[in-house]
Amino acid sequence: MAEKDYHSHATTGLILREDTIFERSSSGREGYRLPNLEVPEVSPKSLRRSHPAELPEVGELDVVRHFTRLSSWNYSIDTGMFPLGSCTMKYNPRINEEVAALPGLSDIHPDAPAEVSQGALEIIYQMERLLCEIAGLDACTTQPAAGAVGEFTGLALVHAFHKHHGSRRKYVLVPDTAHGTNPASCTLAGYETITLPSSKTGVLGVDTVREAVEKYGRDIAAIMITNPNTLGLFETNILEISEVVHSVGAQVYMDGANMNAIVGMAKPGHMGVDVMHFNLHKTFSTPHGGGGPGAGPVAVREHLAPYLPNPRVVHTDSKYSVEYLPESIGKVKGAFGNFGMLVRALCYIRHHGAEGLRAIARASVLNANYLKHQLSKRFKLSHDAPSFHEFVVSDALQAKVGGVKTLQIAKALMDRGFHPPTIYFPLVVPGAMLIEPTETESLQDLDRFIAAMNDIADRIESGEETFADAPTKTIVGKVDEALAARRPVLSLDDRAL
Ligand SMILES: Cc1ncc(COP(=O)(O)O)c(C=O)c1O
Repeated sequence: MAEKDYHSHATTGLILREDTIFERSSSGREGYRLPNLEVPEVSPKSLRRSHPAELPEVGELDVVRHFTRLSSWNYSIDTGMFPLGSCTMKYNPRINEEVAALPGLSDIHPDAPAEVSQGALEIIYQMERLLCEIAGLDACTTQPAAGAVGEFTGLALVHAFHKHHGSRRKYVLVPDTAHGTNPASCTLAGYETITLPSSKTGVLGVDTVREAVEKYGRDIAAIMITNPNTLGLFETNILEISEVVHSVGAQVYMDGANMNAIVGMAKPGHMGVDVMHFNLHKTFSTPHGGGGPGAGPVAVREHLAPYLPNPRVVHTDSKYSVEYLPESIGKVKGAFGNFGMLVRALCYIRHHGAEGLRAIARASVLNANYLKHQLSKRFKLSHDAPSFHEFVVSDALQAKVGGVKTLQIAKALMDRGFHPPTIYFPLVVPGAMLIEPTETESLQDLDRFIAAMNDIADRIESGEETFADAPTKTIVGKVDEALAARRPVLSLDDRAL
């Protein structure tokens, strides 16, 4: 592809500079006036501020311009390809937004009694049933507000299960390819993480798990395994691993953040998984990455169901109601989670149906494998094994030839109109670039990305560029990271320094 073709994708037109909203402030200017009181004024002195709040004084147009200008600096999936591995940045169809904005859904009060919120309860109930079907598991909670909250909830369920059976366990086994939230969730749930090294092929070996099970035995509460993992590889030993873990009464937790690759194709419940979370904002297209709140529902096998968060939605005699489980771990989020996200995800699932979801999984894997094949001609591939939804290349060749590292390659990509991939993760691959195109991208867009990456490789190999000053086309250019860390500008007063 000619250079100008993809460079034109980085030309963003008129982008205006904008300072903080406090710099627009002018004493006495107002943007909003409260309506006249229709009831007697009550203003308890004890609740009044002692000093006026330090808020910017701006008009409505100031606010609109400020945020519109800032929004034009953003890069989003609506702007272009967003190959952020393991984050599954896919297109969020507009129909989801239309449905979520229906007044009966967007205006409903979270504490409305069941008699007047039958539709909302049905949505939650349907969502739980569909996720159980997709997971091959028995019960589900929609409460967790993100994947990480799902992880914590799942481990709290594991904890409640062991406690109920009079077993106090200490450890959770986590492979070294895991997302950072996995060990963090273990700590939050009161467990210690035992990190398991993945094998040379990138997946977890059965012997590694067996050794850990022999060493820690019935002190192990669970294994936490991401499948497909963050190298984009299917954990081929999952069935045997599950058996080994179950042999000491421990539970199998599956991090389902990467479900996009297998949705509708394979059920975690058939792999020996006892508990898993979904990221609705990844697999089921609800907006995220600064664009909206997350949702991390958790699905479980029957034996963990008694501990699910309260309240539960039940369906009896064609009516929906709410019940409280006596052994529940309690509430992890109000209003059954981020309800608007459940509406969007349900819309997506119902819109595509089982066959559509399978097509999504297939296309996401096909796109990733096409990109991998093309990019592996110029960049070092971490593992030469069949990939699922994502894959890892590194800066090894570019570092050797021109001393150019992953960070510079990522910044050079920004100048070519693309959001960089996830970089320096997973930690097991030095200089990693974790690339996930998703099913969203067309062949033309994939080819544009390949052309941009090849152009970067060409320039490094020819010695023409090291990209030391990149990015140069973004509204904020290369920042002085060392100075920013040493002397952060956190207020207007700091700015004057
Ligand atoms: C593999 C994996 N697990 C867990 C998470 C955490 O999910 P969330 O960001 O919704 O908390 C992520 C997020 O990127 C992930 O990629």
